[in-house]
Amino acid sequence: MTVTTETKDGVLVVTINNPPVNALGGAVRSGIDAALDMIDQDQSINAAILIGAGRFFSGGADIKEFGKAMTEPFLPDLLSRLEGARVPFIAAIGGAALGGGLETALSCRYRIATPAASMGLPEVKLGLIPGAGGTQRLPRLVGVKPAAEMITSGKPVNAEKAKAIGLVDAIVEGDLLEAAIALAMQKAAGDDRQPVSAIEKPADWDEAWLESFEKTIRTRARGQLSPVKAFEAVAGSGRLSFADGVKREREIFLECMASDQRKGLIHSFFAERAARKNPGLEGATPRDVKIIGVLGAGTMGSGIAIACAASGYHVKLFDVNEDALASGGARIEKSFKRDVEKGRLSDDAARAATDRVVLINSMDALSDADLVIEAVIERMDIKKSVFADLDRITKPGAVLASNTSYLDIDDIASATTRPEDVIGMHFFSPANLMRLLEIVKTDKASTDALATAAAVGARLGKVSVLSGLCPGFIGNRILKKYRQQADYLAEDGATPWDIDRVMRDFGFAMGPFQISDLAGIDIAWHNRRREDATRDPKERYPAIADQLYDLGRLGQKTGAGWYLYKQGDRTAYPDPEVEKIIIAESARLGIARRAVSDDEIRDRILFSMINEGAKVLEEGIAARALDIDLVFLHGYGFPAWRGGPMFYADAIGVDKVLEGVRRFEKTDSFAWRPADLLVKLVEEGGTFADYN
Ligand code: NAI
Repeated sequence: MTVTTETKDGVLVVTINNPPVNALGGAVRSGIDAALDMIDQDQSINAAILIGAGRFFSGGADIKEFGKAMTEPFLPDLLSRLEGARVPFIAAIGGAALGGGLETALSCRYRIATPAASMGLPEVKLGLIPGAGGTQRLPRLVGVKPAAEMITSGKPVNAEKAKAIGLVDAIVEGDLLEAAIALAMQKAAGDDRQPVSAIEKPADWDEAWLESFEKTIRTRARGQLSPVKAFEAVAGSGRLSFADGVKREREIFLECMASDQRKGLIHSFFAERAARKNPGLEGATPRDVKIIGVLGAGTMGSGIAIACAASGYHVKLFDVNEDALASGGARIEKSFKRDVEKGRLSDDAARAATDRVVLINSMDALSDADLVIEAVIERMDIKKSVFADLDRITKPGAVLASNTSYLDIDDIASATTRPEDVIGMHFFSPANLMRLLEIVKTDKASTDALATAAAVGARLGKVSVLSGLCPGFIGNRILKKYRQQADYLAEDGATPWDIDRVMRDFGFAMGPFQISDLAGIDIAWHNRRREDATRDPKERYPAIADQLYDLGRLGQKTGAGWYLYKQGDRTAYPDPEVEKIIIAESARLGIARRAVSDDEIRDRILFSMINEGAKVLEEGIAARALDIDLVFLHGYGFPAWRGGPMFYADAIGVDKVLEGVRRFEKTDSFAWRPADLLVKLVEEGGTFADYN
């Protein structure tokens, strides 16, 4: 039984018991409906309690039902029946009440919660809006300002905040059910509180505020529709009657349900779940990891150390350079201090995390490390010598991982006598914040070494993706194609600011040239120098960036790169000097500059990614198309509502992608050789989703 009932002294206790999250699937809805029948039939019941078994009040709708025909009773109807019940209902919230779960609680007359409870309407994150009265009841109960913030952001509030805004009537320190029964018995004697829907309009209604908040939401949403739509529904709570507001909410909900954005976000959601199960690692037992050694205390090493210490690992951090080690240590301390200032960590927790990092001045101290993550400078000779040392120093069974971006990890492993323990763990900068972790499978890597990295990644809260070995792995290999097209487009006639604008309009937070300026133009320059020896002469060489490098325009850090920057200001200003450099470079290359349309910019950049993604998939570098999506969603700012590049390809049609690739191939056959897999999919009527 997913809903159980029990009567105690005239109080009906209705318990939702549908693990793991008490989702409001068809059986639960019917169960609550049956409880309402009982109340109608049994006049000895004077009050009722709705409570969740386990850690959730209710996590909301059952997403597995999305896109399928729902069974009756539908949630909106059930909730209006609940709200109009003959006896007062008390929602006893002992954990998370999310989405439909919170809408259910809003339809009860009273709400009490434990201190650990959290409440929110996260529908916008899945491309939806609350669809069972949430956009009408929440503003009426707590005011339109806090409600609009909660509903358009999807962020939950904790019990304390919920009490402050009037979402819950009381916080219960002791036994929740006992407190609920006590309150129910009190209300059973006589209750004069009106249902939330009877409140005429939110008490803090303020049209001027709404107008300015709408602008904020449009900017924040960056092309995502659901927050804007959610706002529209919330605005109905003061402009329309409850009945009309609910009707409008329903229309918007159905519109969102049918949208491509909702499908993209659901794909992103399920892909993230699938990341916990990496194909090929099923059944492998991760090795026990307590102590992690980190080599190199630079940008990446210190970020990795922060991530590991924050998740409870003991970290030993080493750098050959004493100053680098000291400043790495200082960076770690500062980061945990900032967490305290921002209220993310308690003082004690921050001190404990800082204390878990020990700076060591000899690699010999790594003899008890269970895992070592190497993040020293990107040079093969140095990496090899470091791994030879690790081979000598570390205990048998220790996993030895490199954070290299491009180097051949098989070659690095050859410096040891235990290549089966050597793998890649490729973090993204800043390593303590970016969620992506590429786990790189070397030729001889054992599955339990890889599974160990996946287990550590899970504890760090990362999205781990398994990648085969190739230059750049999944992410940087595909990114290179994207980046090249951006440079070629500039040579062909577009400006960097046009290209960035098109990619921002697509939904990226930043365009490729803004990213270059942020990362530093020198980084890519060094990459190009490393590739000089092996670059195919047929490859079109993007030359403008070299000019900028020669001029010392290295990006934000030098005040100028592709853009110009003013002191103390990160705003990127288009620079006529750069336009002159680009025009001169096009002329030098013999390219007649032409008008490049926004569609061409978007298609060349995205199709180059998809085509390379198809090659990554057919070569087995990525096991699933969704792994490529995950890499771009979590490591490169691909808009979640687009679902990732491979999902996007399916959404617009792989035939359309191939047609574009063939069209572009006519002008650059080297860059645009169609992937065999893409051709096969079009011939056979398949999709990338077939490879999930
Ligand atoms: P960094 O230059 O900030 O730090 C490298 C550190 O390694 C320096 O402090 C240096 O003193 C130290 N070091 C040099 N030789 C050493 C040795 N033999 N033993 C111990 N420490 C030594 O470099 P960054 O950016 O942190 O990169 C480190 C590695 O991470 C590179 O392999 C890089 O390709 C990779 N990586 C970098 C990313 C980034 O965005 N910066 C992203 C992902 C990977």
